[in-house]
Amino acid sequence: MKIIIGNDHSAVEMKNELVKFLEEMGHDVINVGTDETKSVDYPLFGQAVCKKVLENENSLGIAICGTGIGISIACNKVKGIRAGLCSESFSAKMTRKHNNANVLCLGARVTGIELAKDIVKTFIEEDFEGGRHQRRIDMLEEV
Ligand code: RB5
Repeated sequence: MKIIIGNDHSAVEMKNELVKFLEEMGHDVINVGTDETKSVDYPLFGQAVCKKVLENENSLGIAICGTGIGISIACNKVKGIRAGLCSESFSAKMTRKHNNANVLCLGARVTGIELAKDIVKTFIEEDFEGGRHQRRIDMLEEV
């Protein structure tokens, strides 16, 4: 699967670990995040992830900042993006099954790397259930 990953300065280490993890699983990873710890602005990197997700059919995005909150707000303002901020694996599973989330947001200062890997694996391997959930996610595009 094609995975787009992006991050601000707070999440360079987590991003690098996750890129390695994803590539070892055989995924095709595109890194649009910063690779430096010099302070940058998370909205730009959230938007970069979303742009590439929308350009690449069937891809999924991962967007990481310190808490995951700022970057998830940024991602959810992009039309066509449904970003789920997750700090445990159950939510990662449910946000794919029920919300058809196309971007996973993580907080590098909140979630440890081993849990983050499990969250990412769960998110990528779960599928959307459709049915009544499709009607609900269609409503998200109506505003
Ligand atoms: C950067 O210091 C920090 O504000 C950012 O990574 C994020 O946590 C914002 O929500």
